[in-house]
Amino acid sequence: MSVLVIIPAAGSGSRFGGEIPKQFLPLAGKPLLLHSVERFFLDERVDQVIVAVAEALLANTKQTERARFVAGGATRQQSVLRALEAAGDGFELVAVHDAVRPFFATGTFHALLDAAHESGAAIPALPVNDTIHITRGDIIEATPDRALLAAAQTPQVFRYDILREALERAVADGIEGTDEAALATRYGHTVRVLPGDPMNFKITHAADMERAEKIMAEATA
Ligand code: CTP
Ligand code: MG
Repeated sequence: MSVLVIIPAAGSGSRFGGEIPKQFLPLAGKPLLLHSVERFFLDERVDQVIVAVAEALLANTKQTERARFVAGGATRQQSVLRALEAAGDGFELVAVHDAVRPFFATGTFHALLDAAHESGAAIPALPVNDTIHITRGDIIEATPDRALLAAAQTPQVFRYDILREALERAVADGIEGTDEAALATRYGHTVRVLPGDPMNFKITHAADMERAEKIMAEATA
C-alpha cells in the first residue's frame, strides 16, 4: 500500500501569539514542524510527505521526490486539499497530521494505516474527561452524553478516494470542517476510532510549548 502524508503547516498560530508562527519555533533546538516531518520521512511505510506552508515561504523550500512543499490556503481544510491536489492520485492511503503535534506514536500511526486500509478511514481519539455543553452565548442549550464523545487527534488516515471526495464535496457545499474525519463522516463514510495518546497533544498555546520542552528535556536526560 502506498502512503502519502500531508502536514498542514500554513497556519498563523493566532492563539499562540508571537512574531513567528508556532510551527517554526524551536523545540529541543529544531523547528517544531521538523520533528513530525523527519519522523514520517524516516518511516519505511511512508512513500511521500507533502507539507503545506504559507505561500511566502515556498521560495525557501527545497523540493525532493519524497518531501514536497505546496502553498497552503486560508483554512486548514484548504491547506489539506491543496496538498492532496498537488500529490496526484497514485496513493492508496493518505495520512493528515498537524505540524504542531510532535509526539505522535509510530505504533499508533501504523495501526491507523492498517485500520484505514481495512475500513476506509481511521483516527486516534481520547475519551473526554470534562462535561461538554453546547452553548449559545452564556447559556447552555444542551449537554451531549459524555460517554459518546471523543476528542480527535492526528494523524488521521483515509483511503485516497474517500478523502478526496469528502474535501471536494465540502468545497462544493461550502462546509468548513475542523478535521477531515468530520467531513468523511458527513458524506457517509465509516471512520474508525482507535485509542489516542495524551502525549500526542497539539501545541496551541504558549504553555503547550513549555510542556513540550520539558518532555524533550526529560527524554534526553
Ligand atoms: N493550518 C494550515 N493552514 C491554515 C490553518 C492551519 O495548514 N490555514 C495548520 C496549522 O499550521 C497547524 C494545523 O493546521 O499545523 C492545526 O491548526 P491549529 O493548531 O489551529 O494552528 P493555527 O491555525 O496556526 O493556530 P490558531 O488556530 O491558533 O490560529
Ligand atoms: Mg487554527
